[in-house]
Amino acid sequence: MSKIFEEVRFPHVTFKNHVARSATNDYAGNEDGTVSEFQMGLYRELAQGGVGMIITGHYAVCPLGRNDIHQNALWDDSFIASQRRLTDMVHENGSKIVAQINHAGAKAQAAAIGGAQPVAPSAVEVAPGVMPRALTAEEIAQVEDDFAAAALRAKQAGFDGVQVHCAHGYLFSQFIDPAHNKRADAYGGSVENRFRIVEETLRKVKAAVGGTFPVFIKIHCNAVEGDAQFASDLVYMLKAAAALGVEAAEISGFDFAKQPRDKRLYYMERARRAREASGLPVILVGGIRTLAEMDEVLDGGLDMVSLSRPFVCQPDILKRLQAGESSKCIGCFGCFSCYQKTGKRCVLH
Ligand SMILES: Cc1cc2nc3c(=O)[nH]c(=O)nc-3n(C[C@H](O)[C@H](O)[C@H](O)COP(=O)(O)O)c2cc1C
Ligand code: SF4
Repeated sequence: MSKIFEEVRFPHVTFKNHVARSATNDYAGNEDGTVSEFQMGLYRELAQGGVGMIITGHYAVCPLGRNDIHQNALWDDSFIASQRRLTDMVHENGSKIVAQINHAGAKAQAAAIGGAQPVAPSAVEVAPGVMPRALTAEEIAQVEDDFAAAALRAKQAGFDGVQVHCAHGYLFSQFIDPAHNKRADAYGGSVENRFRIVEETLRKVKAAVGGTFPVFIKIHCNAVEGDAQFASDLVYMLKAAAALGVEAAEISGFDFAKQPRDKRLYYMERARRAREASGLPVILVGGIRTLAEMDEVLDGGLDMVSLSRPFVCQPDILKRLQAGESSKCIGCFGCFSCYQKTGKRCVLH
């Protein structure tokens, strides 16, 4: 039998198999930030489908960092009870669940932040007409505190860990990306400076939740500008995360949504090299669709596989893979319609 179905151990947490459901925003939370009944149903299906590690969609750590009006939130203690219902249900169904915590930065939708100007490392236009303002040093310290407080609430709500989101163009991703970070202070320039906000956040998170509560990161491994340099920056960042007691890094890329329909294992080679050079365990995400591809990831020296769209399309995909099928979700080139069409989670569902 494939090693995929065996348990995987990290220093402070063990998952019953090597498969994660990658963080997937379902745009279906209640507008007040609590978990909706629709979401309870989605997570129930994932837990019953046998996923070892369910990573939630990204949760907002503060009101100005909210992505969309249906995103779940963890910026106040009042959210703990609703999240506790979710974690209890997942545990009753035999799975584990990790909360992804995020600040949307310049990608926060206007409606989600009351029409305020979004924030970023620097005032660099992110989309036509969307010009964020640069965070001050005091605001950076506040964002770090917000992450730590949200992580503590996740622990109090019964999550099995937290994942700090540093990928996909949100606030921390922009800080580590030289194309978006033009700062001249201690948070811009060298990789040490660009990663400083993440390091300081991880230190504060660890102090808040205690040394044994599992903390993960998700990080992009490539960059539009200076990609070769970014590959070596990545090794620095993973080593720094390892030194701070991070269990593992989930490795993604900025361009996951633009990959050709038939491409697979988008970031395998870079993730493999970064794991080898840094020593930090790596969870690979992006374009993994068959059991053979999952085996290839583990045989290549990586620690776990993570999938998003296949679980949108077929929450019971693990059982299907065991029966010799492959994913129906072929990464629909130009589709990405997941959850966004009324009443439909997936165009193929
Ligand atoms: C509908 C949708 C929502 C997503 N939401 C998140 C999210 O909240 N946080 C995150 O880190 N990645 C998010 N992603 C990216 C996935 O986690 C994953 O990295 C990407 O889809 C590539 O994996 P896949 O080829 O298995 O889909 C989302 C992807 C989709 C399709
Ligand atoms: S809507 Fe398209 S991309 Fe999303 S899960 Fe379904 S098939 Fe895959």
